[in-house]
Amino acid sequence: MKGIILAGGTGSRLYPITLAVSKQLIPVGDKPMIYYPLSVLMLADVREILIIATPTDLPQFRRLLGDGSQLGLQLSYAEQARPGGLAEAFIIGADHIGDDSAALVLGDNIFHGHRFSDVLAENARDVEGCVLFGYPVHDPQRYGVGEADERGRLISLEEKPARPRSNRAITGLYFYDNDVVNIAKNIDPSPRGELEITDVNRVYLRRGQAKLVDLGRGSAWLDTGTPESLQQATQYVSTLEKRQGIRIACVEEVALRMGFIDAGACAALGVELAASEYGQYVMAIAEEVKGTAVRG
Ligand code: G1P
Repeated sequence: MKGIILAGGTGSRLYPITLAVSKQLIPVGDKPMIYYPLSVLMLADVREILIIATPTDLPQFRRLLGDGSQLGLQLSYAEQARPGGLAEAFIIGADHIGDDSAALVLGDNIFHGHRFSDVLAENARDVEGCVLFGYPVHDPQRYGVGEADERGRLISLEEKPARPRSNRAITGLYFYDNDVVNIAKNIDPSPRGELEITDVNRVYLRRGQAKLVDLGRGSAWLDTGTPESLQQATQYVSTLEKRQGIRIACVEEVALRMGFIDAGACAALGVELAASEYGQYVMAIAEEVKGTAVRG
């Protein structure tokens, strides 16, 4: 499976924070926002990842993440020159996807939860059609909204409905079979002139090939769109991290635990960041894993 992180947009609801910096690069807790969706793809065992951003922002993402080899990844970069819609990611990324399946995650979506990585692993395997992830929210009219039958098959899907049929928001994480490239190439732009992801998903719905996986109330899908929600996301992450002494979306740790890099490589990444507590954590995790390997 090939991955795409869509990190376009102007982040205008966060002005003036995002006047000079891409939204997906500003901090949530002690790390850049994009670490969270990047971790999601890594936990789904996706290692070839295309990052799509505006021409102005792209160099900054490259500066942060490079070619990804330090994390055992292959990262590549592509421009979205103007806001052409989420589904345009599959047209921009057509060569990257090739004849593989594809995972798209929005660069500002933060997921966290018990057994979330198991949910990812289960659903990333042998995708036929598409897999959407639903999350209960109190304000579904702000999102794509879906309903599923008892077998988890999607039976209705609406984009930002005034009167939602359920409280299941469709989150910004999507798994597709290879047909997604063709489907995206054949949909028409919406009235706002964009290729809508919901129109792609509707094609799969009509074919009876769309699955809706419930993330459930025990997990977190956090919004980062406004200063207030950004603050809440930071509080959520910081509270859990402090209480448990762990870090959420520490990409170095994820790379180590997924077996993309070894403990020595992880320790070296920690040393580069050693002036921060984050860097100290990366070094400590590498030591812990080394210790287990020696004992074990
Ligand atoms: C987009 C999708 C919507 C989805 C949301 C998740 O909305 O169109 O279906 O629920 O992402 O973040 P947008 O953020 O572009 O308004």
